[in-house]
Amino acid sequence: MSHKKQIFNPNPEFAKNAAIPSMDAYWELQNRAIEDYEGFWKGFADEKIDWLTPYDKVLDESNAPFYKWFTNGKLNVSNQCIDRHLADKADKTAILFEGDRGDVEHITYAQLSRRVNKMANLLKNEFGIIKGDRVVLYMPMIPEAAYAMLACARIGAIHSIVFGGFSAEALKDRIEDAKAKIVITADGAYRKGKPYMLKQVVDTALEQGVGSVEGVLVVKRNNEEINWVDGRDHNYNELITAQPDVCPFEEMDSEDPLFLLYTSGSTGKPKGVQHSGAGYILWAQMTMEWVFDVKGEDVFWCTADIGWITGHTYIVYGPLAAGTTTLMFEGVPTYPDAGRAWKMVQDHKVTQFYTAPTAIRVLHKMGEDEPKKYDLSSLKVLGTVGEPIDPPAWMWYYEVVGNSKCAIVDTWWQTETGGHMISPLPGATPIKPGCATFALPGIMAEILDPDGTPKEVGETGLLCITKPWPSMIRTIWGDPERYKKSYFGDAVKEGKAVYFSGDGAVLDEDGYITITGRVDDVINVSGHRMGTAEIEAAVKDDPSVAEVAVVGKPHPIKGESIFVYVVLKEGHINADIKNHINQLLAEEIGNIAKADHVIEVPGLPKTRSGKIMRRILRSIAKGEAITQDISTLEDPSIVEAIISKAREA
Ligand code: WTA
Repeated sequence: MSHKKQIFNPNPEFAKNAAIPSMDAYWELQNRAIEDYEGFWKGFADEKIDWLTPYDKVLDESNAPFYKWFTNGKLNVSNQCIDRHLADKADKTAILFEGDRGDVEHITYAQLSRRVNKMANLLKNEFGIIKGDRVVLYMPMIPEAAYAMLACARIGAIHSIVFGGFSAEALKDRIEDAKAKIVITADGAYRKGKPYMLKQVVDTALEQGVGSVEGVLVVKRNNEEINWVDGRDHNYNELITAQPDVCPFEEMDSEDPLFLLYTSGSTGKPKGVQHSGAGYILWAQMTMEWVFDVKGEDVFWCTADIGWITGHTYIVYGPLAAGTTTLMFEGVPTYPDAGRAWKMVQDHKVTQFYTAPTAIRVLHKMGEDEPKKYDLSSLKVLGTVGEPIDPPAWMWYYEVVGNSKCAIVDTWWQTETGGHMISPLPGATPIKPGCATFALPGIMAEILDPDGTPKEVGETGLLCITKPWPSMIRTIWGDPERYKKSYFGDAVKEGKAVYFSGDGAVLDEDGYITITGRVDDVINVSGHRMGTAEIEAAVKDDPSVAEVAVVGKPHPIKGESIFVYVVLKEGHINADIKNHINQLLAEEIGNIAKADHVIEVPGLPKTRSGKIMRRILRSIAKGEAITQDISTLEDPSIVEAIISKAREA
């Protein structure tokens, strides 16, 4: 842990031209925000957004926590990402696509414009999609996914992307909750050299009867044989050719919803996080400029999937709003070998590379010296997101991938925050490995007790955002009460409920923020966020299961793994319980929810009021000694019994 104390200063050459070139410049911005919050945001909104009609108020707090930004302003996000660049960037590559098998396509801003306009017309003409309709995307990582997102934005439809790793059941739940009118999918795509199929998952989801869905638009990517439902299914490749290539964009209100993205919370079913256009796109663009420092001919590569918020903000909306070139990759960075990602950096002269700690650990493990075989000199900024990064992975990323000259931006944020919140600035922040450092200018992050008392240096507390910010979640689709309860129920400052992230964090003596991880019942497996409640609900569908509790267990590569404790019903024996439960999890959630450990126990540790003591279960999963008082448990002897079962397993 000795390198934890080491500090890495920004590369002075890089800092010279950086958007925020020093800590003085950082503090100047942040102090401006502290002194005049609305004035700070007004300055950027006026400078960055192509307003069709000016807004009349920067921030409306009258119905807190349902905040409104840039009220009555009019804009269109597809204009912000495409049209306004056509004057000077028509021939610049907007999307640089590389397929799994190495096929490369450069899509210029002019081409992107035509394709998005055509797709917008297709949605309007063939499906009658209008402003406010919901469109679910269940798509692989192909450019058509981005066209579909931007086409929705253009006509004012609200997209809801469901990650391609979710099961038919999970897809169905999300389609139903959003009451989507159509689903856009592909026959399949390629992964690790082989075709895989997506359309059949959509078929299965819709077989169960999802009343709102009137049609399915299918992009033919790999032309495998697929099931076709006449009247419902429509062939994108055939229909698109006849569409006119001009589709005027809708004038959208600042607060009209741009998209929904379902994410897991600590209780209940996944929630549809609702983002609106103006504030979201403003911050997506600003963080591209500040945190990744994109400029000129940069080639920006974010390895996320568009099914997650990182893919939304940093593959599509942020890079395109900033007018940069975004690299979109269909495959996985370790296929055909551990050098694939580094070869792509070399081939495309990637300048910013953004990935998850899990991927860094996998790449490190598979090929410690692999990066040295490639010319990675184009790299300027390296980023990480999704989970805490451990100092050894950080050091390898810094020294071997970045050749000790690139800043590492450890960006903390969430589906709900829309964009980065706490992160180093590559030209300004002296970095401590494994530390997200400081809140970005304009973001007011504090580590608090539930009553709003700031935590002392070295004490872990609730990571809260104490002022609304433009790209924040607006509500949970269809459930405003849950929005209030989920995010504004845990901490109060000066009598006002503040946004609580669900994460813990700690400040050090220099004011640096380190994220300690979730403090609620959400676990993070390979950067995929999952609620233990959702996993438990799926396990309970096994008829032999009486009770279940799920916790996360630290994992050297995945960050956390799923650990399931089950109590079987009287008289039931289930020899193959692990496989059976994993099959259920695959069906109800998807393969991302595979449990590494399933153990059968005689009972769960409960308080006399019946509350499961998860802290004890987490300690047992970790193999830690139990330090908490167990005398208040209904049956303290159960703890010993569980420990011995866990040891056997
Ligand atoms: C975790 C992903 C530590 C955190 C953008 C958060 C992180 C959750 C970091 C959100 C980081 C994200 N360091 N932890 N740099 N970034 N997290 O909604 O627990 O998929 O609450 O958004 O990931 O996950 P989500």
